[in-house]
Amino acid sequence: MPENKEKVVKTIGVLTSGGDSPGMNAAIRAVVRKAIANGLNVKGIKKGYQGLLNEEIIDMNRRSVSEIIGLGGTILGTARCAEFRTEEGIKKGAEICRKHKIDGIVVIGGDGSYRGAQKLSHEGINTIGLPGTIDLDIACTDYTIGFDTAINTAMEAIDKVRDTSSSHERCSIIEVMGRGAGYIALWCGVANGAEDILFPEKYDYNEQNIINHIIENRKQGKKHHIIINAEGIGHSTSMARRIEAATGMETRATILGYMQRGGSPTCKDRYYASIMGAIAADLLTEGKTNRVVAQQNGKFVDFDIDEALAMEKSIPEYEYEVSKIL
Ligand code: ADP
Ligand code: F6P
Repeated sequence: MPENKEKVVKTIGVLTSGGDSPGMNAAIRAVVRKAIANGLNVKGIKKGYQGLLNEEIIDMNRRSVSEIIGLGGTILGTARCAEFRTEEGIKKGAEICRKHKIDGIVVIGGDGSYRGAQKLSHEGINTIGLPGTIDLDIACTDYTIGFDTAINTAMEAIDKVRDTSSSHERCSIIEVMGRGAGYIALWCGVANGAEDILFPEKYDYNEQNIINHIIENRKQGKKHHIIINAEGIGHSTSMARRIEAATGMETRATILGYMQRGGSPTCKDRYYASIMGAIAADLLTEGKTNRVVAQQNGKFVDFDIDEALAMEKSIPEYEYEVSKIL
């Protein structure tokens, strides 16, 4: 258990970690401004845990976060840091916090970043996690910062690929991000009216089903066949070659890639990131540690990180069934 529950916090740090996501800047802005309003000092830690270990730490005030709410990416930068996975890395990080008089940190990132926050909390630095990832793959929360922007960006791109697929009467395999999770695939697959959606959580690797579906649809006069393939399955290019050979329908693969992570955040991502950032600042002000802010059934809640990391989530069964029918 963390040793420093309810300790008095005077100075906090904020960092972004793991893959960036649209809305992280809105969260940073809210953390900074709410913490200052609560009477705390705020420092920005650049480039995630790597920047902490490199002591890339800057003072922040209300003006430091002006004009950033609509910006994609993260003004603090982000990184993946192998050293922070080691015991020495964590101890060094906690020492650096003490040296800079940082009593607490808001970590904006995915569940990997939460594990770092959990260990830092055990070293006596108060930590609060915010769910920052386009993947929506954090079990304790219905919402993650950046998912809404990412699905809208991907949806628009898929609409465009669909136009050209129809014109050429082609099959298109469009690969979306999400690491091992199929939430982006689910939302875009339904929203773009895809003929097939391949989820890492569900896919049986039986391509014959897809091939039969394409042949069936062609017989019924369909001019295109859109397959949304999740990154967790991957291999879209070789899949396209096999499907073309088996169906005789020209097949192309499009990997949307990093464009899904960029761009100006949607209103929803700006708003929720702002509220969650403010809650994180309040939790640190109250002396709380080892907690993550989440949203469940439309309400903002917070959980112990240990509890949050033990939770599991998967594609909702009913939504999966509906996605196959539509
Ligand atoms: P995300 O936070 O988006 O899930 P990662 O899994 O890459 O992304 O984690 C981001 C960073 O968090 C890692 O580069 C590492 O510095 C830190 N981290 C991840 N897992 C652990 C762990 N088990 N212990 C300590 N730090 C970790
Ligand atoms: O977690 C966000 C994400 O974009 C995943 O969808 C993807 O698998 C991963 O990050 C890619 O990470 P990197 O930027 O290290 O290539």
